[in-house]
Amino acid sequence: MSRAGLAPAGEAREPRPASVQPMIAVRRLAKSYATKRGGVVALEDIDFAVAEGEFLAILGPSGCGKSTLLKILAGLLPATGGEASLRGTPIAGPRRDIGVVFQSPVLFPWRSVLHNVLLPADVQRLGRAEHERIAFELLSLVGLAGFEHRYPWELSGGMQQRVAIVRALVHDPAMLLMDEPFGALDAMTREQMNLELQRIWLERRKTVVFITHSIPEAVFLADRVLVMTPRPGRIAEIVAVDLPRPRSLDVMSTPDFGAAVKRIRAHFNARGGLVA
Ligand SMILES: Nc1ncnc2c1ncn2[C@@H]1O[C@H](COP(=O)(O)OP(=O)(O)O)[C@@H](O)[C@H]1O
Ligand SMILES: [Mg+2]
Repeated sequence: MSRAGLAPAGEAREPRPASVQPMIAVRRLAKSYATKRGGVVALEDIDFAVAEGEFLAILGPSGCGKSTLLKILAGLLPATGGEASLRGTPIAGPRRDIGVVFQSPVLFPWRSVLHNVLLPADVQRLGRAEHERIAFELLSLVGLAGFEHRYPWELSGGMQQRVAIVRALVHDPAMLLMDEPFGALDAMTREQMNLELQRIWLERRKTVVFITHSIPEAVFLADRVLVMTPRPGRIAEIVAVDLPRPRSLDVMSTPDFGAAVKRIRAHFNARGGLVA
């Protein structure tokens, strides 16, 4: 990784040329929650852009506002200040061109794998035959061929999360938002899921916003890592990771990988460490 690859936040946040419209543009975004004990400021002065096809990881300690930010991008929660837009249009509610994966897979137990995956297509009344074909193809891509007619309780946690990822992709959204999708998995399954997600991303080139509180996971997956401060969440730095792709798990033992991890970790050492 070159020194230039580790651009300080100020540089990374410089406006892009007008000809390259970002997929997501977030400007002066703020969010406060009203509670019985007064207002809670969750996010403050958040500014960043995500390019079309980019893989952005958002990293920060528990409670710094990561899920709040993701819900705002998904149109599930209104901001209280600033704005977030997708391809130039303010995000004002849930959108069909966004796929969301939460920390727990939230599959419907009474629906088979195939029918869980087809849910967004059913809700949006998209062509059944075509989407069934896409569902079979995607399930096979994540190693679940032959499991189409099984039920969620017949699958391991990792397999259920792969079903949730396929469900988020089935209606071909332009963007995938993932909130700590592998947080509940054991370390080895998690590494396999990281490899799998990279493969899907290389194959389909969706724009991905991926939330995690694992530094190595963020560095392994992302083109850039947006590091957040503890609450109220602000951007501490945006670190570019220009390790070549496809990345194998061995990349984690290279000096460039170590340098990126160290640079990010320094933010948290100064502030009392990352909370798992
Ligand atoms: N619905 C809510 N009402 C009040 N406070 C909330 C609500 N949701 C989140 N918060 C608070 O906002 C802050 C950020 O939460 P969250 O976005 O879930 O953080 P993270 O995902 O980084 O752990 C936390 O202090 C949390 O307690
Ligand atoms: Mg969260």
